[in-house]
Amino acid sequence: MQEIKFIKREVLKEKPTDQTKLGFGKIFTDYMFTMLYSTEKGWYDPQVRPYENFSFDPATTFIHYGQAFFEGMKAYNAVDGVRLYRPCDNFARASRSAERLSMPALDEELALEGLKKLIEVEKDWIPTAPGTSLYIRPTMVATDVFLGVHASHTYLFFIILSPVGAYYAEGLKPVKIYVEDEYVRAARGGIGFTKAAANYAASIYAGEHAAQKGYSQVLWLDAVERKYIEEVGAMNMFFVIDNTIVTPPLRGSILPGITRDSVIKLGRKLGYTVEERLISIDEVMETAKNGHMTEAFGSGTAAVISPVGEFCLGEDKVQVGDGSIGKISQQLYDTLTGIQYGKLEDPFGWSMKLDF
Ligand code: PLP
Ligand code: COI
Repeated sequence: MQEIKFIKREVLKEKPTDQTKLGFGKIFTDYMFTMLYSTEKGWYDPQVRPYENFSFDPATTFIHYGQAFFEGMKAYNAVDGVRLYRPCDNFARASRSAERLSMPALDEELALEGLKKLIEVEKDWIPTAPGTSLYIRPTMVATDVFLGVHASHTYLFFIILSPVGAYYAEGLKPVKIYVEDEYVRAARGGIGFTKAAANYAASIYAGEHAAQKGYSQVLWLDAVERKYIEEVGAMNMFFVIDNTIVTPPLRGSILPGITRDSVIKLGRKLGYTVEERLISIDEVMETAKNGHMTEAFGSGTAAVISPVGEFCLGEDKVQVGDGSIGKISQQLYDTLTGIQYGKLEDPFGWSMKLDF
């Protein structure tokens, strides 16, 4: 393992005093982790160094062609110290994103070591108020200075940290979701299953329109028939229909969420039937109206478990259940966060306690 250099900063930032007002992704800590890649050297020069601006040549490839992706995970101020949640799964997914974008696989072991060292230096930034955590944003960008459309030979990988509260202003109150039946986020065969920056670029236009209409996020439909549920902007979707938990299958166009995988496994362990199957938007609207759908929720690192209280498709609006958080959503939220904060038994060994 390569040695990770530490570069100290002279003046530290002020930490937020009111943890109830953190919001999401607005404040960044004192340090970051960086490492560089070249085809000759592989990954090299790992450092924990002061958080500061990068300097890029205007012709740097990622700026023009979007050869860039990111990851998202969290560190928790748990009952017994600091814990990460399934970090190896995030780094493995990073390498899958990298492969599809013709970028180099991450040195996952070195990235984890770098992350641990960074968190150790920044542990005082992990908020302590209920529901808060330290959001971790690993990112890789192509850094060749060249305007040809080819894979870069050099890359920068970095990890930054941000103390966060709830992703949605609503907290655990159900969010309203706009069903997008005109624009699409990703098609099968494309890059929808990666965390490519471009997937988010593709989603912003529809997201802004939905926001103007008062909706928190967009629910995407499949790119071919505009019929089957894909996912929401920053989370995977689950529906409780006739007491069965249903979620769309992974067909290449949606992100294989780590929280999604956790919900499927925890749901089954809690005794529920969990199905991965195609769900049409007609089925969603109909079962929400006739009462067969009792709950709907999204899952994600930032979103955790976010209940959905309303879907809007064109002029048609339906409320899910009684519009408040459902029993199964609450149970899954309590179980998942219980494991993440070290309060509950962790039957799958997902939570990683850091030893400092
Ligand atoms: N889908 C999209 C598009 C996302 O951005 C996210 C967030 O990471 C998710 C789903 C949920 O994935 P995960 O549970 O791994 O955070
Ligand atoms: C995450 O949950 O980690 C995400 O990446 C969502 C983000 C787009 C806000």
